[in-house]
Amino acid sequence: MAKRTIVAMPGDGIGKPVLDETLRVLDAAGFDADYVNADIGWEFWCKEGNPLPQRAIDLIEKHKIALFGAITSKPKDAAFDELAPELKDKGLVYSSPIVGLRQHFDLDICMRPCQSYKGNPLNFIRRGLGNTIEEPEIDTVIFRQNTEGLYGGVEWSNPPEKVYDALMTHSKFVQNFGRVPKEEISVSTRIFTKKATERILRAAFEHAKKYEYKSVTVCEKPNVIRETSGMMYKMAKDMQAADYPNIELWNTNIDAQMMWLTKNPEDYGVIVAGNMFGDIVSDGFAGLIGGLGFACSAQFNPETGIGVFEPTHGSAPKYAEYKKSIVNPIAMIASACMMLDYIAENEIAQIIRKAVAAVIAEGKVRTYDMMKLKGRQEVIEQGAASTTQMVDAIIAKLK
Ligand code: NAI
Ligand code: MG
Repeated sequence: MAKRTIVAMPGDGIGKPVLDETLRVLDAAGFDADYVNADIGWEFWCKEGNPLPQRAIDLIEKHKIALFGAITSKPKDAAFDELAPELKDKGLVYSSPIVGLRQHFDLDICMRPCQSYKGNPLNFIRRGLGNTIEEPEIDTVIFRQNTEGLYGGVEWSNPPEKVYDALMTHSKFVQNFGRVPKEEISVSTRIFTKKATERILRAAFEHAKKYEYKSVTVCEKPNVIRETSGMMYKMAKDMQAADYPNIELWNTNIDAQMMWLTKNPEDYGVIVAGNMFGDIVSDGFAGLIGGLGFACSAQFNPETGIGVFEPTHGSAPKYAEYKKSIVNPIAMIASACMMLDYIAENEIAQIIRKAVAAVIAEGKVRTYDMMKLKGRQEVIEQGAASTTQMVDAIIAKLK
């Protein structure tokens, strides 16, 4: 088989050390690939006025698979201030390159697995009967629709006449907002399409089938948000009846789900939701397994096969200046394992996951977050492992 080429996009801040160190793990585990670096992030906004240069898009288009660290985003005004002086009169407006990537390649499936590692001191625990302590084993995979819904960007403050007139054709709008001056109204839409809803549901069910999860939970609010949530739940029912009779279909409301998060998280297998609720519920579950140092993700387009694999954490700029990187590389390594699964290198993925699990279970090498320390350069003197030491320990366990 021809050697694979993977696009490596370190981005900003701690994106660089976590990606560099992850490539070291992939190498040591015997994953044979070439890497090409793609430019993305703040530096390219400041120098070129574009945080997602076309050359990066071309590389992803060509090679299909990308590992991504993290980027720094700043509000509009701050972004303008940092733009190179010669670019300031060009009318450029900053927008997030991640969102740009999602839209450009229609990476509409976002997958966020939350699996607890035995021995992780950050695992969620709860009180059982008779004052016992229970540590539920969590193995939940969240499928979040990644391109539509409340994050679709179709919104207005003081909406244009045509939009306002259209809203006024709805009796609920007339009843609840009809007397409010137009200039005092902000509207953010929540648009779901059948095609994208079908795709996220299909991805969730297929994953449940492949990895033998017993249930798929639609986590929305169909009793209140009848049109969008309602459509998703109805489509899920039809799909389950037609194609997945052996998988149970559950239906939870996002608010109740967040309450049940600490009550019975071990009961949930695959969860599927729209953009915003998927974002919320996946952060909730990630908190149960150790938070940002452990939360991995994938975004992909099942039609083109293009996939971008990344930790859910950001660029944590203050840690990026440290001489020795202190951040936890496991979220990035776990994201790389998702990439390996995606390109059918499951064996190598399993070898790496086992090594990570062994290091955590042994408990000798822990990054600062796992020691519940505040992130500072001095954590190394306090016994925390650096990013590099954590990776050395993982590599030593590969076999
Ligand atoms: P962040 O995720 O960068 O950091 C928040 C805090 O989480 C850090 O201060 C640190 O205490 C902890 N943390 C993050 N990653 C960690 C790791 N690997 N190991 C241990 N601890 C870790 O979020 P923040 O501070 O809100 O944003 C910083 C920048 O990142 C902003 O410019 C933001 O726009 C951007 N961002 C980018 C994302 C992406 O690239 N996908 C996602 C989230 C934020
Ligand atoms: Mg989030």
